[in-house]
Amino acid sequence: NYPDSVRIIEMGARDGLQNEANVPTTAKVALINALSQSGLTHIEAGAFVSAKRIPQMADSADVLQQITRSPDICYSALTPNLQGYQAARKANVDQVAVFTSSSEGFCQSNIHCSIAESLARFAPVIEQAKADGVPVRGYLSCVVECPYDGPTAPTQVARVARSLYELGCDEISLGDTIGRGTPASITPMLEAVLNQIPRQKVAVHFHNTWGLALVNVHQALSMGISTIDASVAGLGGCPYAPGASGNVATEDVLYLCEGLGIKTGVDIEAIAKAGWEICRHLNKAPQSNVSLALLGK
Ligand code: HMG
Ligand code: MG
Repeated sequence: NYPDSVRIIEMGARDGLQNEANVPTTAKVALINALSQSGLTHIEAGAFVSAKRIPQMADSADVLQQITRSPDICYSALTPNLQGYQAARKANVDQVAVFTSSSEGFCQSNIHCSIAESLARFAPVIEQAKADGVPVRGYLSCVVECPYDGPTAPTQVARVARSLYELGCDEISLGDTIGRGTPASITPMLEAVLNQIPRQKVAVHFHNTWGLALVNVHQALSMGISTIDASVAGLGGCPYAPGASGNVATEDVLYLCEGLGIKTGVDIEAIAKAGWEICRHLNKAPQSNVSLALLGK
């Protein structure tokens, strides 16, 4: 049941760098420009969130202004409320993303409101985006487990995912924020969501904290899901999810897909090179076995 092709949604410049202090704007711009040459069609470029809460993303407007845009690429950004939406529009993003949680604890910690309040906050954002012809992605965090509330029931994930879908999100990205999932927990969660939302509207967003993100991506692929969030060099994490580490590495997802005969349209080596370059700034090695095997000699 593998899809014929997958769309990779590149998280490195947003999820990847929101957890890294003191990355110069020029390095972010260079990263996105390098990623733009790899065949990717979607790059999340920043976040229009409170600069007091996430200072790492405070230069998102500058980043979006300074990158060299490819007409074939959708450059998106997080927009938690109308204030963020307006700033993102001004920066000329191609897509915006709202984000909530399937657990109350993470929702409160991350965006300071209940799940119900978050959905009410998104309604005018989505309405405005529709009026402007801007597509909207909806992120749903803690689809397996919450760092504050413990395990999340698949029925709860499906319920909030459906609410996001009914509000008008064009795609729902299911986040295993703290990387606790295994195929045993991911499978019933995906089944519950796929009962509510068309498969082609569902994306998976797996963090690799416990080392099974790629295994879980494989599980999602085997269930026909064809939109995969991934981060160059396995960068990433959320400041409000203690201990959470990076997203599944884009290089590893590409290698898996190549092995399975699934088209991606993305050049692994170009991604790996971009990853090594940003990791030089971060003073660490890429968190990707494929990248190390390819360029780590
Ligand atoms: P709030 O904390 O409820 O407070 O904001 P507020 O609405 O009263 O605003 C407080 C201050 O923030 C005010 O400034 C606002 O102007 C400002 P002050 O008067 O104190 O100077 N503010 C903003 N500034 C810039 N852009 C905005 C904006 N909105 C308000 N859009 C809010 C709510 C959500 C904005 C805030 O709590 C926040 O920014 N939280 C950070 C959330 C975040 O970025 N988390 C990381 C990304 S999510 C993630 O990583 C998970 C994901 O990857 C999926 C997964 O892995 O599960 C997507
Ligand atoms: Mg994330």
